[in-house]
Order: sequence, then C-alpha cells, then structure tokens
Amino acid sequence: MLFEALPEISEKELEHFFQIMLTKYGEDFRGYAPASLKRRLGTVLKRYGLPNMQTLNQRLLTQPEYYERFISEITVSTTELFRDPSAWVALKNQLVPLFASFPQVHIWHVGCSTGEEVLSVAILLQEMGLYDRTQIYATDIDRSALEQAQKATYPLRHRELYEKNLKAVLPNVPFSKYAWEEQGNLVFSPSLLRGVRFLRHNVVTESTFGKFEIILCRNLLIYLTPSLQDQVVTKLIRALQAGGIFMIGTKESLFWCQAAQQLIPLNEVERIYQKKP
Ligand SMILES: C[S@@+](CC[C@H](N)C(=O)[O-])C[C@H]1O[C@@H](n2cnc3c(N)ncnc32)[C@H](O)[C@@H]1O
Repeated sequence: MLFEALPEISEKELEHFFQIMLTKYGEDFRGYAPASLKRRLGTVLKRYGLPNMQTLNQRLLTQPEYYERFISEITVSTTELFRDPSAWVALKNQLVPLFASFPQVHIWHVGCSTGEEVLSVAILLQEMGLYDRTQIYATDIDRSALEQAQKATYPLRHRELYEKNLKAVLPNVPFSKYAWEEQGNLVFSPSLLRGVRFLRHNVVTESTFGKFEIILCRNLLIYLTPSLQDQVVTKLIRALQAGGIFMIGTKESLFWCQAAQQLIPLNEVERIYQKKP
C-alpha cells in the first residue's frame, strides 16, 4: 500500500498557527509535541485538500464556526473501555483498601475523550460498592467527544474488545449488566453516568477546580513536550488530596516532572501513584 506524504509545515507557519489559536481562541498549543502536532495538522490539510498551512490559518481566522470541529480533528481521541486491563486490575485492588472508609470520593478524569474511561471507573465503583459515595468530573477540550461521552453510545464494532477487557478486569461481571445493543449501537446503562459531570476544560490553560481523591490523566501527557508535562502534572498534583491516587497511561512517564517527588508509586508498572501525606 502506498502512503501519500503529508504537506510540509514550516516553523513560521506553525508559529502563526499558535498565535491565531492564542489570540482568537485563547487556546495554547505551543507546548504540544511538534512532530505529532505537525502530523495531525498535515492530515487536516490533506482531508480538506488545502494546499498549505497558510490556508488553514486563514480558515481559522475567518471561520470561527469551524473551530470546534478543528479541535476534534487535531486531538487524538483514541480510547477503550478498560484500556490496558492490567492497570485497571491494579486500580481495583487499591480502591477498597484506600477509600472504603471515605464518606465522599471525588474523581477527575482529565482528557476523558468519548467517555469509556469514565464508564470503566463507574463500573469498578459500582462493583466495589463505592459508586454512591462518588462525585466524578470528566473533562476534555474536545466538545464533540464530550457529547458522545454523555450519550454513552458507541459503534457496535467495539463490543468484542470492550467485553474482553471487562472480563479481564471483572471476570464475574456479565457485560450485559452494563451494556446492550440498541438500534445498531452499543449503549451503556445511563445509571453509570448519574454521578458524573462532563465539562469542557483545558488542563493546559485553565486552573483546576477543587480537590480530588483520585485523578486520572491517561494518554494525554504523551502529546505534550516534557516541560509542559511538568507544568500540567504539577498543577494536577496540587489538586490531589494527600493520600490521593494519581494515574497516568502505561506508556507515559513522570520522568520529566519535578512534582512527582510528592508521589510514591503504588504500582510503577501500571503507573499508579499516591500523593505523600
Ligand atoms: C488519547 S485520548 C485519552 C483518553 C483516555 N484518557 C484514555 O486514556 O483512554 C486524549 C484526550 O486528551 C484530550 N486533550 C488533549 N489536550 C487537552 C487539554 N489541553 N485539556 C484537556 N483535554 C485535552 C483530547 O481531546 C483527547 O480526548
């Protein structure tokens, strides 16, 4: 199979793009890893048959109605129910010992995408008997991903994988307890979202809101430069209660993050950490 090369994007064009995003939309993409950002911008150019980045910049300047779709197009929304199941088994083993005595548990999913990660936590909490004591916040910069998350409805082709992942984490829980087929889609029980608030929030540019016992920021840091990873993690650890859990993606690392000194690993392989008292 032949792959057509993506259009080249110069540093100057990228700089102009950053300025437009900052001044017109208040969005800061300067700390996103340049190689993958350029690749995603190149894909957008190709999709619309735009000859160069200048044309896309012009479109962003003159067509604000295109902006939300654009955000959706350049962010990577890949996710799964119980993505990396062994990480969820590790989290499951920590939840009851750490939080069974808590009257309330506040959880924040940073970069929740289309919501499968939120449903994973909701199912775990339900099965551990902790759900009714939990307030879950789920945030993302991609509005259309958030809309899908609120519907908890997915293409049926995901069923096999999601069912397999659930079985790996909670072997005795039938998939049909939480999800079923409806009009050709895979629909999750709305009861799983009754304690969830979805919000549009940019973790890079906006401040945090409240304190949390658990923060999940999985597979988002990987798209940021090391110095922005450090800033974001510092911000998130500040929003974490002492003794609270911080979870990142299994392919991510806190190597660049000064603030990680405030954490102890509960499971280094699965990237689950606890904030020191
Ligand atoms: C690859 S998905 C990860 C989804 C889920 N956490 C998981 O691990 O399966 C990354 C998500 O981060 C979101 N994102 C990227 N930059 C963000 C930012 N600055 N603030 C909030 N969300 C962001 C993207 O829109 C996307 O939905």
